[in-house]
Amino acid sequence: MHIAVLNGPNLNLLGEREPELYGRATLAEIETRTRERAQALGVNVSWTQTNHEGELVDAIQALKGRADGAVINAAAFTHTSLAVRDALVAVRVPFVEVHLSNIFAREPERRRSVLADVAVGVVTGFGAESYRLGLEGLVGYLASRHDR
Ligand code: DQA
Repeated sequence: MHIAVLNGPNLNLLGEREPELYGRATLAEIETRTRERAQALGVNVSWTQTNHEGELVDAIQALKGRADGAVINAAAFTHTSLAVRDALVAVRVPFVEVHLSNIFAREPERRRSVLADVAVGVVTGFGAESYRLGLEGLVGYLASRHDR
């Protein structure tokens, strides 16, 4: 099973960026933890971060036929990007939306996700753990789908 983890803008600054909201773990540390969990689950993980909307769209389009599922933290594009949503719908790769912070407890403009209704599920507010939880949820979902 291959899972792609996709990260949007400014997540490369984790660790130093608003730690009261996002915690002190760097994206590299989150990647290491997520890969450890993936290995224990016997799944393959690829890891991408980009600050550019078009690159995120390209990365999503590239999943077609290559990934069984995706864990995505689209960061600020979550709230704005119909291009990211359209790409996810087009490739039809099951995905879990994750956020470090609880977007529903934040400013009104962050309480809306243009991705959530086409996601398998959403994990929001568990800090770096959101990635592990998202991966576990997605792998469980894909495994039960294969069993059916
Ligand atoms: C975020 C929440 C977004 O609103 C914000 O733009 C981010 C990070 C999170 O993981 O909590 O960059 O996706």
